[in-house]
Amino acid sequence: MDKTFHIVTFGCQMNVGDSDWLARALISRGWRQVPEEDAWLFVVNTCSVRDKPEQKVYSELGRLASAYTRGGKGKPGLTAAVGGCVAQQIGRGFFERFPFVRLVFGSDGIAGAPDALDRLADDPGERIALLDFLTAYPEREDVLTLSTPAPVPAFDADAGEPEAVAEGHPAQAFVNIMQGCDNFCAYCIVPYTRGRQKSRAPGAVLAECRTRVEQGAREITLLGQNVNSYGLDSGGANVTGGVGFAGLLRQVAAIPGLLRLRFTTSHPKDIDPAVIRAFGELENLCPALHLPLQAGSDAVLKRMGRKYDRARYLGIVEALRQARPDIALTTDLIVGFPGETEEDFVQTLEMMELVRFESSFSFRYSDRPGVASLRLRPKVPDEVGQERLLRLQSLQNGITKESLKALEGCETDVLLEAPSRRQDEGAHFWRGRDAGGRVVNVRMGTGLSGLDHSGASLCGRMVRARILEAKNHSLLGEEVGLPW
Ligand code: SAH
Ligand code: SF4
Ligand code: F3S
Repeated sequence: MDKTFHIVTFGCQMNVGDSDWLARALISRGWRQVPEEDAWLFVVNTCSVRDKPEQKVYSELGRLASAYTRGGKGKPGLTAAVGGCVAQQIGRGFFERFPFVRLVFGSDGIAGAPDALDRLADDPGERIALLDFLTAYPEREDVLTLSTPAPVPAFDADAGEPEAVAEGHPAQAFVNIMQGCDNFCAYCIVPYTRGRQKSRAPGAVLAECRTRVEQGAREITLLGQNVNSYGLDSGGANVTGGVGFAGLLRQVAAIPGLLRLRFTTSHPKDIDPAVIRAFGELENLCPALHLPLQAGSDAVLKRMGRKYDRARYLGIVEALRQARPDIALTTDLIVGFPGETEEDFVQTLEMMELVRFESSFSFRYSDRPGVASLRLRPKVPDEVGQERLLRLQSLQNGITKESLKALEGCETDVLLEAPSRRQDEGAHFWRGRDAGGRVVNVRMGTGLSGLDHSGASLCGRMVRARILEAKNHSLLGEEVGLPW
């Protein structure tokens, strides 16, 4: 049997990073990554954070079943593996509901997934569940030496959520520094699906970062559900030897050749003044921070169990802007949390005006199985939640537009990721990001850099661009040369 696979990824950057690793691990064992219609194995890496992404998983599996078993192409022995947060939540239930699902694995179990998939390929009768939580960070086999570029995420600025994995380039690397979460925010399923927080040893993080830079990575994003509490695991074992997140950040930033360093996600309650200072001190630490606020009313924040209030959040914002005046702040917001009144909601709008986030992901509150807020009353009616979401998003759209508009005429460094969807006659456009994380579509060929603008060779190149025009969620620029 030809070992071929296709991965579909839902959810956060942790999932994207996990899919990226799994693809590399399978390729290093002789598997081939192919388009869906040619694949023997489908891997669906799932997200359970709201009801909608969970439902998407079932519809994706249903779609695969009807496309490849009944009338469709009649693919013999349709085989799927389900990983990630819904897999952890539903577990072996997938085996009953979808007979062609033969492996389920959670985020701790993924380390064993490549071996398990080899076994499934050899033994058509086998089914495997890898759902145990571990007490220490599960180091995975080192598959970094692979030369094939693995996929990295492409964020669709207009959709507000990561797209399924797009074609990537090795100049951008995502490196896990922890797994799981100890916070148990009242609405959140993540601590149940990813388990307790387990920090990864700093030596392992640094080794992976160094290797990625040696292989051509110019930008590294350190990943965790709450990176600010790195090293503060409740589970006891302190594998970091007293190195906190600020210390780790400094060590990674010092890797020669690393041009850009980012991290996500940051819980405001744990942010260390040393991390805030780092924005003013570390040259390659990008002036961008995703700092989820969730709600603007102290009463709602309290019921959510977030452990900060408006004043504390605003204090952090002020300190960040003092350290790095051009820092681009983005956030996550939930509307319609149980008990949220119109007055509470207006305070969220107010916070949005006060902080002036460059962009935000905003969500309708969604009940999740087992979380504390399930029991909170009163629930906010759907139409009220929907109306609040629209008001919030319309305010954000205005602020986003104004903040992008302010950049017209400026010059900025753009790390190129892929050819743009936009391609005008006679001009090549490449999509990339500035240091603040804004998407910039760059018209190539007008500058001095002398690069071959047509080929794939531009992936991972940094160019200097002048911003010509602010679009709704991105910038349009023209190349004016190389940044150095
Ligand atoms: N660890 C990150 C976020 C992980 S989940 C953090 O703490 O910031 C990503 C986002 O999904 C959250 O920030 C929150 O805004 C949203 N979210 C989580 N649970 C939700 C729920 N039950 N309903 C609606 N949105 C939710
Ligand atoms: Fe969920 Fe809160 Fe943990 Fe974020 S910090 S993953 S919102 S429990
Ligand atoms: Fe979703 Fe799990 Fe990430 S619930 S947001 S894939 S941690």
